[in-house]
Amino acid sequence: MARITAGIGCSHVPAIGVAMDTGITEQPYWQPVFKGFDFSRQWMKDNKPDVVFLVYNDHCTAFDASCIPTFALGCAETFAPADEGWGARPVPIVRNHQKLASHIAQSVILDEFDLTIMNEMEVDHGLTVPLSAMFGEIPQDGEWPCLVVPLAVNVVQYPAPTANRCFQLGRAIRRAIDSFPEDLNVQIWGTGGMSHQLQAERAGLINAEWDTTFLDMMAGDPDAARQISHLEFLRETGSEGIEMVMWLVMRGALDEKVTEVHRHYHVPASNTAVGHIILENHD
Ligand code: DHB
Ligand code: FE
Repeated sequence: MARITAGIGCSHVPAIGVAMDTGITEQPYWQPVFKGFDFSRQWMKDNKPDVVFLVYNDHCTAFDASCIPTFALGCAETFAPADEGWGARPVPIVRNHQKLASHIAQSVILDEFDLTIMNEMEVDHGLTVPLSAMFGEIPQDGEWPCLVVPLAVNVVQYPAPTANRCFQLGRAIRRAIDSFPEDLNVQIWGTGGMSHQLQAERAGLINAEWDTTFLDMMAGDPDAARQISHLEFLRETGSEGIEMVMWLVMRGALDEKVTEVHRHYHVPASNTAVGHIILENHD
């Protein structure tokens, strides 16, 4: 049977991808950001997943204002890195596990979560930057070390789904993956965050204390995390902090009790507090 072995939370700041693609990760500004991923890259080698179920948000790349699905499941065979205005990132095409994606679509929709099915989709920094951060540099003509089932969550256009809804969806995804007959080591990742605001009067806002409490909740008190309101995200973490609802999908798919094996928090990377956590499932 397929098993979810671990959950990972990871910021997806586009400048992290740019730093890797242009070879400046050892510069003093970036060195402490990437140092926090040294452990993770070794851990990924030691705990190599067959598939990553990757929860991320699209930033008006695959979707524009004409169509905004709340939850969009990638069911295509492959997903090309998108051109976000400065050319596509020089990273490999992302390959799906299509049978698992179809199974998840069936299981989760019959479980009464109405996903949008994407049979064609490009993926932006929300998906490719965490892959790069966790796996290190992979040449464009190489392969990502695992297959990826993407789930795009709307956090760009109000109203985004609630933290609790995301958590409940995570539970449904867990039921779906647990009932897939092939033996697969599956990880679930939630990307985005942590506190950041990219525009208007509070641009540059960072709330390290709140972010740390959120990381603590991910590890030990997910029931508190899923009660966080949109208003609290906005007030405490800025307009883009709402990306953290995607971590709730990841957390909902894990056991109630998990083991925190790694945590990294660093300010700043671009306009954002970088947060990262690795949580292992017990069974
Ligand atoms: C930044 C962070 C993001 O999460 C994002 O999607 C875009 C930009 C930033 O800090 O620059
Ligand atoms: Fe983002």
